[in-house]
Amino acid sequence: MALPDSFIQELIARNDVESVISAYVPLRRRGRNLVGLCPFHGEKTASFTVYPETASFYCFGCHVGGDVITFIKQIESLEYMDAVRFLADRSGMKMPENSRENEQTSRMRVRILEINREAARLFHQVLYQPEGKIALDYYHSRGYTDSTIRRFGLGYAPDSWDFLIKALRQKGYYPEELKEAFLAAKGRNGGYYDVYRNRVIIPIIDVRGAVVGFGGRVLDDAKPKYINTENTLVYNKRRNLFALNFAKNTGKELNICEGYMDAIAMHQAGFTNTVAALGTAFPEEQVQLIARYADRVNLIFDADLAGREATQRAIANLRKTGLDVRVVSIPDGKDPDEYIKRNGPEAFRRLLEGSANAVEYRLLEIGKNYDIRSSNGKILYFKEAAKVLAELDSPVERDVYAGRLSELLGISKEAILQEVEGNRRGKQRAAAKQQLQTLVRQESKELRQVNADAAAHPRAANAEESLLGTLILHPDYFKQIKPILSPEQMVTAFNRELYTRLLERYQQGLMLELSFLSVDYDEAQMAYITRMVRDAKERVLTPEDAVTFATIIRDEHALKGLADPANATDEELLKMMETLRARKKK
Ligand code: CTP
Ligand code: MN
Repeated sequence: MALPDSFIQELIARNDVESVISAYVPLRRRGRNLVGLCPFHGEKTASFTVYPETASFYCFGCHVGGDVITFIKQIESLEYMDAVRFLADRSGMKMPENSRENEQTSRMRVRILEINREAARLFHQVLYQPEGKIALDYYHSRGYTDSTIRRFGLGYAPDSWDFLIKALRQKGYYPEELKEAFLAAKGRNGGYYDVYRNRVIIPIIDVRGAVVGFGGRVLDDAKPKYINTENTLVYNKRRNLFALNFAKNTGKELNICEGYMDAIAMHQAGFTNTVAALGTAFPEEQVQLIARYADRVNLIFDADLAGREATQRAIANLRKTGLDVRVVSIPDGKDPDEYIKRNGPEAFRRLLEGSANAVEYRLLEIGKNYDIRSSNGKILYFKEAAKVLAELDSPVERDVYAGRLSELLGISKEAILQEVEGNRRGKQRAAAKQQLQTLVRQESKELRQVNADAAAHPRAANAEESLLGTLILHPDYFKQIKPILSPEQMVTAFNRELYTRLLERYQQGLMLELSFLSVDYDEAQMAYITRMVRDAKERVLTPEDAVTFATIIRDEHALKGLADPANATDEELLKMMETLRARKKK
């Protein structure tokens, strides 16, 4: 399924990195490069950089990077082939004929969506047949009305190993396909069986109205409580929010709760701008999704400790995008579903309206740890609270909260602000100093995750990265490097493989630019490679530099081979000592 080089070459010529990316990100020129706000993470200062000369991009904030195809893969959430197709369409090119494998994938995607739709329909219909009565009763006992059941397409998977397999087989869908939809699984004896059995079924519907997955809950206290669709061609829980199909057009404010049942209960109570997070970690993709539909969010999580920790993490992730985050803590009852049932929608509305924003929530949380009636507790609380206020970038906000603290603690507002400013200055100095160091270290660490050996051989990895970056920029340097450095001498596995690939392409007279590599590497690997190129570009390296890197790599390779001195000959030992001495001098 490899695409011909000539095709890729034309593709990247017609889709220059600057024009493609600027359709998503407003860019402004900075020297030879362009910068803008990174579309992959929330930021206020531009650390997303586009390099027209190497047809690549790189973000200094979140360390994504690559060529134009990698960019489209990430921003449009597409597989490699679909990203290529996307760019081909954009520039009026026809895809080469032999991309069959991919047609198969997109056909499968369509099949899964059909299967999901049929399955949802069947699960729902069963509710009104004798075998589904138990589930209908269950919904009713939880207070869900028939119109809610209809609206959400709720259903029931009967207590059977092949209810769905049989019914869908009659409609022309095979168990193998149901497995791709996570609706059937293969047993040890090779036969297929239904994944969802004796569970109430909640379809997960995406913003376009397609059924992309299911949650299935037991009707009693059995474990596991829920089975959820795992990743399929059409579903990734990191990229979805339950009930967003209903909530997306309700305005710029979203309520986010934890569970399916909570979201459904809230919709029924009239809070139709509610979604459920389906797991509370809030990965970047979900945060982006939320930011697309809302300016303000109300987080409604369990009042227990896990809920509180989840809330803190969620606040941090969401705040990064500049969303106004408020937290609704529910005084009694465990979750919104129960609270509404017990106290009614009006009481819940009052809770929502009185929702504390993130700062208030944190102050409240800290407050629980101290007894502010004692002077000791008061001082400790004051110190902690000042740290929270110090994180606020807006002086107006700092002033407002200092005022409130002042009233609460009976300490003058000036004293509070003084403590806050002291915290801020100390913080800023320390932060500036550390920022640079940690940035460099973190970037390295993060990117090198794709090259597991790098941690054990940092010196070799550094030299390899410099050399590979240089060779991608200047393939002609291979003339000097090829005779002195064989692939086996590369110390770390990922770099050895990359070097081999580059060398092969060089020997075949093929181009080494990033876009010819993106077919073989995933996003993380492309980011790693792109950084090599970026750094090499900045340093303006000569063939002599490249030779120096190669020499270091050879030394490190020799050293690695001799890692156990017990097995070395005298001659080898001598060489090892020399290398070590040379290494110390640098
Ligand atoms: N969840 C899950 N698997 C579990 C438990 C929970 O996937 N074994 C997810 C579900 O999305 C669930 C959410 O976490 O909706 C919240 O869990 P929980 O509060 O336990 O369930 P509720 O949805 O509140 O269900 P119920 O009210 O029926 O207990
Ligand atoms: Mn619940």
